[in-house]
Parts: sequence; structure tokens; C-alpha cells
Amino acid sequence: MRPAHSLPLRIMHWVNVYAVCCMVFSGWEIYNASPDLPFSFPQWATLGGWLGGALAWHLSAVWLLVLNGVAYLLYGIFSGHLKRDLRPPSPRAFLRDFVAALRLRLPHKIGHYNAVQRLFYGGVICILIVEVLTGLSIWKPVQLGGLVSLFGGYVLARNIHLAMMILIVGFIVVHLVLVAIVPRTLVAMVKAVPSDPQETPDV
Ligand code: HEM
Repeated sequence: MRPAHSLPLRIMHWVNVYAVCCMVFSGWEIYNASPDLPFSFPQWATLGGWLGGALAWHLSAVWLLVLNGVAYLLYGIFSGHLKRDLRPPSPRAFLRDFVAALRLRLPHKIGHYNAVQRLFYGGVICILIVEVLTGLSIWKPVQLGGLVSLFGGYVLARNIHLAMMILIVGFIVVHLVLVAIVPRTLVAMVKAVPSDPQETPDV
């Protein structure tokens, strides 16, 4: 039986969850030390205890995030997972599935992603890459001057870093709501279960 999600994929997904949580919660503590928007994150939702502790968490967890992300991308390319399951949908397929989702008529097949999921998952992977690159820019702005210029300077790189964090947190909220609506998907991300049969080919 070919599982809906292979073992390496399941392991990398959960490592990613741990790394992203460490990054987000320690990032909130770092932001709180010098907020550039008119709000701060509640202390209970932060990791690290103080600026130095949060930076230590942030700069350690990023290596886990990057190593796991590189392993995921290499695995995805060489196993054919990215091409087979996460190829960008055509605008027509996206519109069709998005309208069906709004009407609560989008069937969810374990082991097959619809066009909305493909865009959603592919999108968060790209956003995570931008998040890491802007993070590197504001960590070493002198040594990585070229990268900083690519993002329009230090201040813009910091704001993009913050904006990407908001998109990632937004993704996680929607992701968790969808998992709660179809809890069978969670079982398939934990243990080996067979894929549902697919009736119509994806466009
Ligand atoms: C506790 C938190 C999380 C839970 C319970 C969870 C659960 C799941 C489940 C059940 C799936 C499979 C969906 C399906 O088969 O329809 C999935 C896929 C996915 N999740 Fe999560 N997830 C969590 C956090 C995250 C985070 C933090 C990220 C990244 C920011 C993420 C990114 C993804 C991606 C990209 C996929 C598609 C993976 C692939 O097939 O290559 N998830 N998640």
C-alpha cells in the first residue's frame, strides 16, 4: 500500500511545525523589544523570556527550519511529490475549486490536493522562503548587503519579514480550521493510511 503521505513527508511536516512554532513565538518576543506597530504580543504567547533568550531560540530554530526545508525541497523534487501533488493550478481550476469551497461543496480526498490546497501549500512554502531570506537580511545587513538591497533596504526587509510572519500565522489559522473540519486528514499526516480513490483528474 502506498500511503497518502510518505514517512519522510510526515516526519518533515512535524519537524517543520516545531521549527515554525519556535520561530513565530520567539519572533514575537524579539518584536516586543522594539515594536514598530502600535501593538505588542502578550508575554504568555512568546518564547525566550527576554530579548537575548528569544534571539537564541530564533537563531537556533532557523537552522532546523532551513535544513528541514532544504531536505523537503530535495525530496519533493527527486520523488516527484512537488510536481505531482503541488504543481500550481490553472486559474480556471483554482476558480472552480474556490467557488466550490465557498459553497461548502469541495470534496476532500485524502492523498490528493485540490487546486485551492495546491495554491495554499505552494504559497506558504514560497512565503517561508521569503521569510528566511528577509530574516538573513536583517540578521547580517552588512555582510549580506546585496540581499538587503534586493528587498529595498533594511527597513523594508524588516517590514516584509513582519508581513510574511502575519501571512504564515494566517495560513496556520486557516490550515488548522480545515484540519478540524476534516480530521481524517490529520490521521493521514500521522500514520500510513491509503489514499482515497480520485474520480476526476486535477487540472
Ligand atoms: C499543529 C499544526 C498543524 C497541523 C495539525 C497540520 C496538519 C496538516 C495536515 C493534516 C496536512 C495534510 C492535509 C491534507 O491531506 O489535506 C498538512 C499538510 C501540510 N501542512 Fe500542515 N499542519 C500544521 C502546521 C503546519 C505549519 C506550521 C505549516 C507551515 C507553515 C504547515 C504546512 C503544511 C504544508 C505545506 C502541507 C502540504 C505538505 C505536502 O504535501 O508537501 N502545516 N498539515
